[in-house]
Amino acid sequence: MTLKALFAATATAALLLSLPASAAQLTIGFSQIGSESGWRAAETSVSKQEAAKRQVNLKIADAQQKQENQIKAIRSFIAQGVDAIFLAPVVASGWEGVLKEAKEAKIPVVLLDRDIDPSGKELYLTAVTSDSVHEGAVAGEWLAKTIGDKSCNVVELQGTVGASVATNRKKGFDSAVAKHANIKVVRSQTGDFTRAKGKEVMESFIKAENGGKSICAVYAHNDDMMVGAIQAMKEAGLKPGKDVLTVSIDAVPDIFKAMAAGEANATVELTPNMAGPALDTIIAYKEKGTAPPKWIQTESKLYTAADDPMKIYESKKGLGY
Ligand code: AHR
Repeated sequence: MTLKALFAATATAALLLSLPASAAQLTIGFSQIGSESGWRAAETSVSKQEAAKRQVNLKIADAQQKQENQIKAIRSFIAQGVDAIFLAPVVASGWEGVLKEAKEAKIPVVLLDRDIDPSGKELYLTAVTSDSVHEGAVAGEWLAKTIGDKSCNVVELQGTVGASVATNRKKGFDSAVAKHANIKVVRSQTGDFTRAKGKEVMESFIKAENGGKSICAVYAHNDDMMVGAIQAMKEAGLKPGKDVLTVSIDAVPDIFKAMAAGEANATVELTPNMAGPALDTIIAYKEKGTAPPKWIQTESKLYTAADDPMKIYESKKGLGY
C-alpha cells in the first residue's frame, strides 16, 4: 500500500469511528408471547420485515405463552448486551424485578401491544400499543347501535387472564353497554385468545343458554376466538351473523372471509405493525438522544360487513396472518 493510500484508509476509518451508531449496528432482543392467534403471527412477521428494512438485527424469543420464559429471554438479552429490548408482556404484573435489571444494565425497554401494571412505568422507555379500553368501547357502541331497543343477551369470550388487553377490552365494552339497560352480558369466560379455546367455551355457552336460543350476540376479545365460536354456532344449528350478532377485535383476514359469508358482523382493527414505530423510536433515541412520549398510540378502526370484506381479505391475506 502506498503512503497516500494508507493515509486515505486511515482517514476513512477515523471518519467511520466518529459517526453516531447507525441502525445497521443495532441489535434488539424481542421477547414475543408466542403464536396464539393470527394477529400474533402477523405481528411477528411484520416485526422481522420492519427490522430488515432498517437493517436492525432483531433477535426474537418465542415465550410460548409463559411469563417465566419471557423473563429468561430478557435476562439472556441483558447478558448478550443488546442495544434495546422489545417486550410484548403476556400478563400485566410481575415485571418489576427483571425490568429493574434491564434498567441497571442501561438497556432501554419498549413495550409492544400490551401494557404492564402502572407501578412499572419508570422501568420502560415507551409503550407502542392501541387504546384497548377504547377498542372494547367501540365494539360495545357498535352493538348498542345495531341492536337498538331490542333486549339482547351477550356472551363474552375474554382474552388471556391477567393480560392488559383482556382487562381493558372487557372494561371498555362493559362501560359502553352499561348505558343500555336492554343489553346484558350473561356469560363471560376466557378463551385464551385461541381459536380452539374460543370454540370450546362457545360450545359450553350454547349448552348453558338453551341451545344458544337465548344468545343475541357474541363479543370476543379477538377474531380467532370468534372464528372458533362461529364454528361452534354452526355445528349447533345456529346462524352466526344473522340470529346471533358477532363483534370482535383484530381484523385478521379470516374474520373478513366470515363477514363475506354473512357469518360475522364487525371487527375492530389492531395493527400488527407495532415494531415499525418502536424501531424508529429506538433508532432516534440511540442516535440523537430523542426521548419518546411514554405512549405511542396505534389506530383502532371499526370494520363491518358494509366495508367490502372480500377486498379487505385479499389485501391482508399475504401479510403473515
Ligand atoms: O395483545 C394483542 C392481542 O394478543 C391480540 O388482539 C390477540 O389476537 C393476541 O393474541
